[in-house]
Amino acid sequence: MSDEHPILEMRDIEKSFGAISVLKKVDFTLQRGEVHALMGGNGAGKSTLMKILTGVYSMDAGTIAVEGQPIRLHDANDAKRAGIAMIYQEFSLIPTLTVGQNILLNHEPRAGSLFLNDRAANRLARSILEDLGEDLNPNTLVSDLSAGMMQMVEIAKALSQKAKILVMDEPTASLSEHETETLFKIIRKLKAAGISIVYISHRMAEIFELCDRVTVMRDGQIRMTEPCANLTIPQLVETMLGASSASEFTWHDRHKEFHGEPLVKVRGLAMPPRVVDVSFDIHPGEIVGLAGLMGSGRTEIAEAIFGRRTPAAGEILIDGKPVSDQKHAIDSGIAMVPEDRRRMGLVLDHSVQSNMMAPNLDRFSNGIFVSDTNASGVIERLIGRFGIKTSSPAKAARLLSGGNQQKIVISKWLIRNPRLLILDEPTIGVDIGAKGEITAQIRELADAGTAILLISSELEELLAVSDRMLILHEGRIVQNIQRRDITSEEELHHAVQGHLIAQADPVHAA
Ligand SMILES: Nc1ncnc2c1ncn2[C@@H]1O[C@H](COP(=O)(O)OP(=O)(O)OP(=O)(O)O)[C@@H](O)[C@H]1O
Ligand SMILES: [Mg+2]
Repeated sequence: MSDEHPILEMRDIEKSFGAISVLKKVDFTLQRGEVHALMGGNGAGKSTLMKILTGVYSMDAGTIAVEGQPIRLHDANDAKRAGIAMIYQEFSLIPTLTVGQNILLNHEPRAGSLFLNDRAANRLARSILEDLGEDLNPNTLVSDLSAGMMQMVEIAKALSQKAKILVMDEPTASLSEHETETLFKIIRKLKAAGISIVYISHRMAEIFELCDRVTVMRDGQIRMTEPCANLTIPQLVETMLGASSASEFTWHDRHKEFHGEPLVKVRGLAMPPRVVDVSFDIHPGEIVGLAGLMGSGRTEIAEAIFGRRTPAAGEILIDGKPVSDQKHAIDSGIAMVPEDRRRMGLVLDHSVQSNMMAPNLDRFSNGIFVSDTNASGVIERLIGRFGIKTSSPAKAARLLSGGNQQKIVISKWLIRNPRLLILDEPTIGVDIGAKGEITAQIRELADAGTAILLISSELEELLAVSDRMLILHEGRIVQNIQRRDITSEEELHHAVQGHLIAQADPVHAA
């Protein structure tokens, strides 16, 4: 072991799936104790490169060296032995076992001098569990943990297996703000202990906050590796997107006044413990942003409107009639893009095309037969519009990159022209190019008369599209405010924590 060599060197890595080349002569170098961002559009090849590093996929050509020593990776165990661990988006913990059992699982005692010895590794793992707060008892069942907690347990497990290279693939996508802060604290601790981290994310702010260097991939090739300090966000975006520039992501006043009869009336909604007393209206064609902290009950409210959850008290009226169940909601023209799309919104073994058509069969069918020609035109257009990267509409959804799977679910609802569209965190995991496209599509739908309820933890996104915003705090709507009265993202940031925004002309709806 010497310090002359980078901890990891990947050279000339090539990978094809069938006839499609996904990685082309990729070079990637990781320094000891570095947090290295890996960025790029959906389908650029980030996860594939890291799956090669962790022995999940085999490479067609190229070399990998750890601390200057060439290694061969035949399977995930080889990677583990080389000190490489990956924290997957889909966690690998066993839900029916306890935290402690999961951490100790698959432990291979090994001899030899390691960068991180057993005791140091265990100390780190223990300190991570401690950082999580006293309520994490090692006897807790993993199935009882939040997504954030599970991720910390994954990290603790990797460390106790003496990983010296840790790959995190979009780790914050399902974390609350508080959990994200904890994760960042832990990452800094790992870095200080000499552990090297590859950090994949679509969130620019995180990259600049956390990472030393960034490597940008596009279409299976490396386009740039630079220290973050030398870069600006626009430069980074340009390198990621290449010729196709980012769509507009700035708000403009649509100058619409929504009076008349609301489409949706929510009155005195209560779903303990999170939702105490919530009332609001949404008019046809209006885009209403629902802002609040993660865990503030936003998803519960959305699910109640969609008839998926029965409130303890209160009323939800569509066209003045109460929503009885999900079928009734759908029949009344309500559509919802759920937060947990990969589980609830996609049949992974079905093709891209059949996933997109599933909620839209009525539009494509002609009597009892589904007209393929009609459908393929629409599907092709959607694939083009959202830049869904797939070699063919017949490809199984499972084989698409994570972000492209997200795009399928979003696009299939956007073509339905629902009367009310509820979007719960619609841009998680999608790249910056597609974010702009989704934003534009939301506006277009609203212009055509669809009412929109948008939930997002990305305040920038809420500010970019909403006509009006509802601020949820401690179970109540504490403020109902026109977008034009909000002057900065910071103001909104404070508002979701309960510090109201000064308002000249309060909205009186509900
Ligand atoms: N097992 C597979 N079979 C066929 N194609 C695959 C397979 N795995 C990945 N691909 C293709 O390889 C390309 C790169 O996918 P990858 O998952 O590496 O992208 P990514 O950069 O991680 O994107 P995202 O930001 O969306 O997660 C995609 O076009 C994907 O469809
Ligand atoms: Mg990926």
